[in-house]
Amino acid sequence: MRNSPNERTFFWTQANALLRKNLTYQKRNVKTNVRLILFPFVLCLLMLLLQKLIEKQILDKPENKCGCICTKTQGDKCLEKECGIQYSDLSQVGTCPIPHPPEWPPLMQVPVPQYRAVKSIFLPFLDLPDESCRKNGSCPISMFFTGNNMSFGEIMYENMLPSTLTINISDITGSMALNVLGSATKTGYSNFFEPSFFSDLPIYLLQSQCRQNSTFSVSVQLASISMQKEVKCAQVLHLWRNSSWEVNDELYKGYYKSNTGRQINEISAGYDFLNSNGNKFNVSIWYNATYKNSTGSRPIGLARIPRSINMVSNAYIQFLLGPGNEMLFEFVKEMPKLETPNKFDLASLLGPLFFTWVILQLFPVALISLVYEKQQKLRTMMKMHGLGDGPYWLISYGYFLALSVVYMLCFVMFGSVIGLKFFTMNDYTIQLVFYFIYINLQISWAFLLSSIFSNVKTATVTAYIGLFGSGLLAGFLFQIFVQDTSFPRGWIMVMELYPGFALYRGLYEFAQSSFTGDTSGTHGMRWGDLSDSTNGMEEVLIIMFVEWVLALFVAYYIDQLFSSASRKSALFFLKTFQKKPCPSFRKPSIQSQGHKDFVQMEKPDVSQEREKVEQLILEPTVNHAIVCDDLKKVYPGRDGNPEKIAVSGLSLALPQGECVGMLGPNGAGKTSFIHMMIGLTKPTSGTAFVHGLDIRTHMDGIYTSMGVCPQHDLLWETLTGREHLLFYGRLKNLKGSALTQAVEESLRSVNLFHGGVADKQAGKYSGGMKRRLSVAISLIGDPRVVYMDEPSTGLDPASRNLLWNVIKHAKQDRAIILTTHSMEEAEVLCDRLGIFVGGSLQCIGNPNELKARYGGTYVFTMTASLDHEKDVENLVLQLSPNAKKIYHISGTQKFELPKDEVRISNVFQAVNDAKRNFTVSAWGLADTTLEDVFIKVARSAQEFETLS
Ligand SMILES: *[C@@H]1O[C@H](CO)[C@@H](O)[C@H](O)[C@H]1NC(C)=O
Ligand SMILES: *[C@@H]1O[C@H](CO)[C@@H](O)[C@H](O)[C@H]1NC(C)=O
Ligand SMILES: *[C@@H]1O[C@H](CO)[C@@H](O)[C@H](O)[C@H]1NC(C)=O
Ligand SMILES: *[C@@H]1O[C@H](CO)[C@@H](O)[C@H](O)[C@H]1NC(C)=O
Ligand SMILES: *[C@@H]1O[C@H](CO)[C@@H](O)[C@H](O)[C@H]1NC(C)=O
Repeated sequence: MRNSPNERTFFWTQANALLRKNLTYQKRNVKTNVRLILFPFVLCLLMLLLQKLIEKQILDKPENKCGCICTKTQGDKCLEKECGIQYSDLSQVGTCPIPHPPEWPPLMQVPVPQYRAVKSIFLPFLDLPDESCRKNGSCPISMFFTGNNMSFGEIMYENMLPSTLTINISDITGSMALNVLGSATKTGYSNFFEPSFFSDLPIYLLQSQCRQNSTFSVSVQLASISMQKEVKCAQVLHLWRNSSWEVNDELYKGYYKSNTGRQINEISAGYDFLNSNGNKFNVSIWYNATYKNSTGSRPIGLARIPRSINMVSNAYIQFLLGPGNEMLFEFVKEMPKLETPNKFDLASLLGPLFFTWVILQLFPVALISLVYEKQQKLRTMMKMHGLGDGPYWLISYGYFLALSVVYMLCFVMFGSVIGLKFFTMNDYTIQLVFYFIYINLQISWAFLLSSIFSNVKTATVTAYIGLFGSGLLAGFLFQIFVQDTSFPRGWIMVMELYPGFALYRGLYEFAQSSFTGDTSGTHGMRWGDLSDSTNGMEEVLIIMFVEWVLALFVAYYIDQLFSSASRKSALFFLKTFQKKPCPSFRKPSIQSQGHKDFVQMEKPDVSQEREKVEQLILEPTVNHAIVCDDLKKVYPGRDGNPEKIAVSGLSLALPQGECVGMLGPNGAGKTSFIHMMIGLTKPTSGTAFVHGLDIRTHMDGIYTSMGVCPQHDLLWETLTGREHLLFYGRLKNLKGSALTQAVEESLRSVNLFHGGVADKQAGKYSGGMKRRLSVAISLIGDPRVVYMDEPSTGLDPASRNLLWNVIKHAKQDRAIILTTHSMEEAEVLCDRLGIFVGGSLQCIGNPNELKARYGGTYVFTMTASLDHEKDVENLVLQLSPNAKKIYHISGTQKFELPKDEVRISNVFQAVNDAKRNFTVSAWGLADTTLEDVFIKVARSAQEFETLS
C-alpha cells in the first residue's frame, strides 16, 4: 500500500499543487521577499561604505602612509630622496620601511618630579626629602640600595654616576653614554624612535649633586634632523636600607592606591647587592613594570631596564679595575624592518556579530510562516483535502531551503564583489559547506519550534528577541570564552549546541582567518587548516550537521504527534512492528449489547438504520456512499476527569445523492463525528466506509473524492478566490483545461465570478463571500462525499439563500453530511435529519416524518382579557379533552392539542362562536415545527441521561 504507484502519483500531484500555491503566495509577498533578499546587500554596502570611509579618513591620510622627503633638491627636481621614517612626523613609523634604524641614547626610567618620593605619614623615613620640594619640581630621584656589605654598596653607588659632567660637543652620542640620562616619558611600541626626544618633558641628567643653573640645552643630530633638547639636572638620592625586606616594605607603602587617597611616592629603582664582593657579583634590581603606554597594553617599563643594568655593571667594573675602565652603553637600535602598510578590514572585525544577525534573519521568516499556517488552521484544512505530510514537508522545507540558499548566495556573492576580505580570503567551498549546513539546521529548528507556538505574534516577538539576543550574547560573552584559552573546550562545544553560537563560532573563525591572512599577507582559511586544533571550524561543522539531522527527525516526529493527536499513537513509528488488528473483528462487549437493547427499545428508526448498516456490511452495494458502522469515539480521561464519550456507537448509511442533516445541541459530538469521518481523529472502535474504503486504513484514497467545508473559513488572506480553488482543484488531481473549467464553474455557481470578485484577495472578502468560497472549495473536484460544518452560520438571508441553492444543486449526485443549528436550513436542504444528543443518534428520518412522529400536536394560542381565561380553557377542553396547557401569561394561553382529536374546521368554528361571547384579542393555530421536535427530542434524551 505504502509504495503503490497510485500513491506515488498522489504524492507528486500534491507536491505540485502545494508548490504552485506557495509560489503564488510568495508572489503576493514579493515585496517582503525582495526586502529580505536586499537586507544582506544593504548591510554589505554599509560595510563597504564604512570601510571606504575609514580608508579615506584614516588609512589614506598622509601621516598614516609612508612618505618620502627630498633630502637634496635642485630647483624643482628631487635629486635624492629619503623614504622611511620621518622624524619630524613620527606617525609613519608603523608603516614605513626602515632599512637603517636610528640610534638612540639609552635612558633610565625616572618618575616625574611631582610624584617622586617624599616624606609623608606613610613613609616617615628621615632620609627622604621634605614635601616642599614638590612645589618647585626639585625633588630628587630616590634609589634604594641594600646588600650584605654596606661599604661595598657605598662604593658601588658612588661609581654608578659620574662625578663630573662630561660633554664633548663634537661627539654628542658618545658623551651621552658617559653620563646617565633619564626620562619620565613612557616608551613607545618599538625602539625605532625614542619618545623622550619628542615630548615636552626634559631629559634628565642624573647626578649625585646638582650645581646651580643645572638646566641647559643641547642640540642633537639624530638621523636626518637636528633638534634642540632641554637637558635638566636631576639629583639622585642614594638610600641605604638594611635588608631587601625593608626596601620592599617601603616600595609597597609608596605605591599609589586610589581608594586610600595616598599621595604617590615613586622610587626610580632599587638594587640589592646580596653577597657581592670583589670575587663575585650578584645583584637584584627593582624596577617599575607598571609603566604602560596607554595605547599598547604590554608593560613597556622593560624597555628602560638595560640602562639600569649597565649602570650597575659599569660601577662594578670600576670597582674591580679602577676609574677610567668603563663599559659604555652607547645606543639602542632597533632591527630594520620592511614596509607594513596599514590594513584594516572592518568586515573581519565586525563580521561575526553583523553576519550572525544577517543569517539569523532567515529564522523568523521560516518560523512565522509555519506558525501562520498553524494558527489559521490552514495546515488542517489542507490535510482535510488530502494533503499528505510527505508533500507538505517536502515543499515547505524545499521552499525555505531555496529561499535561504538564494539569500546566502546573494550575501556571499555581493560581499565578494565589493571585496570584503571576510569572503574573498577564505576558501569558498568551506564557506558554502558551512552556510549550507547552517541554513538546513536553522530550517529544522524552525520546524521544531513551530510546534511550540500557536500564535504568530508570540512567535514573531520571540524569534526576534532570540535573534538579537543570540547575536549579542555570542558577541559579548561567547567570544570571550572562545578567546580565553584556559576556558575548557568541552564547555565551548556544549555552548555550540545552540545554533546561534555555532553560527557565531564559524563566522568568528572565518573572520580570524581572513584578518590574520590579510595582515600577514597570506591566505584565509583552507581545508587543511581545519585539522589545526585552534581552529574551531571542524567541530562546528560536525556539531551542526549532527544537530541538523537530529532536529529534523525530532521535528517530524513531534509534528506527527501533534498534527494527528490521537490518529497515531505516540510510538507511531513502531507501528510497523505491531500486528494489524483484523478489520472485521468486533468485540461484542456486554456494554454495547445493553446499549443496543435500549436503542431497539427506545428508537425504532435508529435501530432500523443500524440493521440497514449491518445488512450493507454483509452485502455491500455500490450506491451507498457512506456507511458508518457503530462508530465510537472516547476521549481518555485527563487530570482526573472521567473519560468522555463523544460518539457512542453511531450507525448511518447514506446513499448517493442524499443529504443528511445532523442536528444537535452544542457538545453533542457532531464535530467529533465529522473529524473521524475526515480523518483528523481515529475512531476508538467501529469504522466507516466511504465508497467501500475504510476510514481507518484507506483515508488517503478517500481524500481524493471528499470535500470539507469547515465551521470557520480557513483561507489564506493574500490568495484570491480563484487561486484557492486552483490549489484545491490540483490537490484533487485536476489538470489543465479540466481544472480551469472546474474553477470557472465553481466560481459561477457560488456567484463569485462576476465583478472581478474571483481575483480579489480572500482577506478582503465579506463574511458571506468567504463562506461561499469555503463551500465552493468543498465542492471542487467533484467529490463524491462532502462534509459541511454549519455552512451558513453568520450569513445574511440573501447570501444564505444563494448558498442553499448551491448546496441543493450540488447534492444531486453526491452524499452530503451537514451539521447545522438552523432548522430552516435543515428543512430546506436535507433529505433526512438525525438528531444527535449525548453522542448518539436519537432519531433519524425525513423532516416531515419526524414532525409527524414527534410533533403529533397542534399548538393553539389565544389571548383574551383576564376575566375570560376560564372560558378559553373550557373552549379548548371542548375541542380536545386531552389538551395540555403549556404556557400562560396575563391572558395569553398556549395549548397542545393532539392531532388525532382535533379537526381544524372545528377549531375555526369554535373560535367564531367564542368571539360572540367574549372579546378575543388574538388567536392562532400552528403545526409543530422542527424546532419543537428538536427541543423535545433533546430534552427527553437529556432527561434519560440524567436518570440513568
Ligand atoms: C665589605 O666590602 C669591603 C669593600 O670591598 C671590604 O673591604 C670588606 O672586607 C667587606 N666586608 C665583609 C664583611 O665582607
Ligand atoms: C671629542 O670627540 C671627538 C670625536 O670623537 C674626539 O676626536 C675628541 O678627542 C673628543 N674630545 C675630548 C676632550 O674627549
Ligand atoms: C604611546 O605610544 C604611541 C606610539 O607607539 C604614542 O603615539 C602615544 O603618544 C603614547 N602614549 C602615551 C600615553 O605615552
Ligand atoms: C640599619 O643598621 C644600622 C647598623 O646596624 C642601624 O644603625 C640602623 O638603625 C638600621 N636601620 C634600620 C631602619 O633598622
Ligand atoms: C609604578 O608606575 C605606575 C605608573 O606610573 C605608578 O602609578 C606607580 O605608583 C609606580 N609604583 C611605584 C612603586 O613607584
